Amino acid sequence: MAFKRIMMTALASVILLLSHSTFGESAEERDARMEWWREARFGLFIHWGIYAIPAGEWEGKPTVKGGAEWIQSKDKIPAAEYAQLIDQFNPIQYDADDWVQLAKQAGMQYIVITSKHHDGFCLWDSAQTEWDVASTPYKKDLLKPLAEACRKYGIKLCFYHSIMDWKHPDYGVKKDWRGNADNPTPDMDVYTTYMKAQLKELLSEYGDIGVLWFDGEWEDAWTHERGIDLDDYLRGIDPSLIINNRVDKGRQGMKGMNKDGSFRGDFGTPEQEIPHTGFPGVDWESCMTMNKSWGYKVSDQNWKSTEKLIRNLVDIASKGGNYLLNVGPTAEGLIPAPSVERLQAMGAWMKPNGESIYGTVASPLPELSWGRCTVKNEAHSTVFYLHVFQWPENEKVTVPGLKINPTGAEASLLATGKSLKWTPAEDHLQIEVGPLAPDPIDSVIKLTVKGPFEIKGTH
Ligand code: GLC
Repeated sequence: MAFKRIMMTALASVILLLSHSTFGESAEERDARMEWWREARFGLFIHWGIYAIPAGEWEGKPTVKGGAEWIQSKDKIPAAEYAQLIDQFNPIQYDADDWVQLAKQAGMQYIVITSKHHDGFCLWDSAQTEWDVASTPYKKDLLKPLAEACRKYGIKLCFYHSIMDWKHPDYGVKKDWRGNADNPTPDMDVYTTYMKAQLKELLSEYGDIGVLWFDGEWEDAWTHERGIDLDDYLRGIDPSLIINNRVDKGRQGMKGMNKDGSFRGDFGTPEQEIPHTGFPGVDWESCMTMNKSWGYKVSDQNWKSTEKLIRNLVDIASKGGNYLLNVGPTAEGLIPAPSVERLQAMGAWMKPNGESIYGTVASPLPELSWGRCTVKNEAHSTVFYLHVFQWPENEKVTVPGLKINPTGAEASLLATGKSLKWTPAEDHLQIEVGPLAPDPIDSVIKLTVKGPFEIKGTH
């Protein structure tokens, strides 16, 4: 008995630990802090920096396999040589208002821009370094107008920030092409102080910042202890901040979710992939490119179709995650036309169908042969948004596993409001949808179930 009691107490304290985050916040406080982000579901990632000048080609040769923002590392370009790019960076075509409007029209609710990528170059006028936009012919801070436009259109501004820094002399992993090559004793404490001062600038001078999105945490110079210290520091400046899991050392590669243990970070960050299932009780966001590179790359014309992008968004939402979709603007400051076209097309779908994405949670239904499902729990009903990718030849959409009261539901096409007939059965429900798919990519049926229902079969 005594043993059992001890076990129960131990179990209770584990549950208690899990329901509080590591920095003493209650579950309710955490929910309130995460609310806008969970509601948003769809954001724009912007990878922009001076690597957009070479755009994946060095000395006339297409040399970068993968992301064009990695060119300095891939080609082992000595820091002094790479630094010459600063004299050429002059994005006179940049129009922050246009960018934010495009995101808004696409149905996105937040923007994450690379304040600093691995090459260390800063898109704002930082008092901590000359390796920034203020030292280019353009001179002007690039983040200020973006912050202004975000305020104007009601979009949350968020900053990506690389921990790894190929420029700073005190960053703790030496390579002969990096800016620390000539420093016999790089000092990570000095570097961390620099990074904190920069982050403080970003948190104080650009209005309300939604997310700090860290990256480049994988090298040994960055430790779990440094992650905790940085996380504490930032939450001290702004307690409402959301911070991704790359601030700490818990991430398991590109899968992006944390290994077992206690690590900082509010959400997991799967990269270039969509997990097979969701992660109940854990927030996550898949970040993905439209072609294959994060930064602008002239040769990469490998664009995903609009169909693929819309279905990715729906797939992710159906598993309870967010979709952070990337664009890589040119050195002149333009978002490439194929990206613009795709974002506009996504917006055209989101306009009548956005309700089936925003504020939805993961589907409790078993796997669906014809598409995906997103769900909204309302006070007296549950709304199932049935995303039909493959329109059924027999003109009937079968919802497996859903058992409801024969009078307790309403079904309609979300985009037009046209009401649809449905019939319940013991272990499924069938909706009569007619012969023509209203949307070749994803036609959404809104099924509102009033009162209780049962789900049979596993998810
Ligand atoms: C990476 C890459 C990078 C890109 C990013 C986006 O790990 O190093 O270039 O910024 O992740 O998630």
